[in-house]
Amino acid sequence: METPSPHPSLIPVFSPEALAARVLELGQRIRDDYQALLTVEEPLLVIGILNGAFIFLADLVRAIDLPLEIDFIRLSSYQEETQSSQHVVMLKSLEKEVGGRHVLVVEDIVDCGLTLAWLLEFLGSKGPKSLKVAVAISKLERRQNNLSLDYVGFELEEGFLVGYGLDYAHMYRHLPGIHKLRLGS
Ligand code: IMP
Ligand code: MG
Repeated sequence: METPSPHPSLIPVFSPEALAARVLELGQRIRDDYQALLTVEEPLLVIGILNGAFIFLADLVRAIDLPLEIDFIRLSSYQEETQSSQHVVMLKSLEKEVGGRHVLVVEDIVDCGLTLAWLLEFLGSKGPKSLKVAVAISKLERRQNNLSLDYVGFELEEGFLVGYGLDYAHMYRHLPGIHKLRLGS
């Protein structure tokens, strides 16, 4: 008899192997794009958005063979529910200066796009030398703006996803693959 799944309401969407392969591709593209711009004196500044981006960022930076520094910002636009509120709150600010730096923002998932739009405006106002975005998942159905995303792991039309950093009410972040959450079961 098969062992019952500990997470019966989860449907696998992206396997750990598929994520790992895609992250390697993104890391190589990022290395190719930035190679001529960076030196040890002028490293890339990678900014992860907590909490969700911590796993994608950890994998991505290990696939970028270039001088880089890492900082984190913590934003919140979700209040333990699956509807995005209109508010973005900064719960932890950056420790590095952004002005004059090549900056790469790393985010787990873009849904409506409000969180990222807010952050890009915030960082843009500090005068970075360049500002790009890497996201693991771009979810299209509810997008409210036409943000340009420079490096996208996977695109998806709809659904609430968990795993690989993504949570539902603080749960499931640790799952190595990405799953769709069947709500109400
Ligand atoms: P946006 O402002 O709607 O783009 O919200 C982006 C944020 O909402 C992400 O950083 C996630 O924290 C959260 N979010 C959006 N969709 C999902 C999902 O499918 N699963 C888990 N978190 C999500
Ligand atoms: Mg997030």
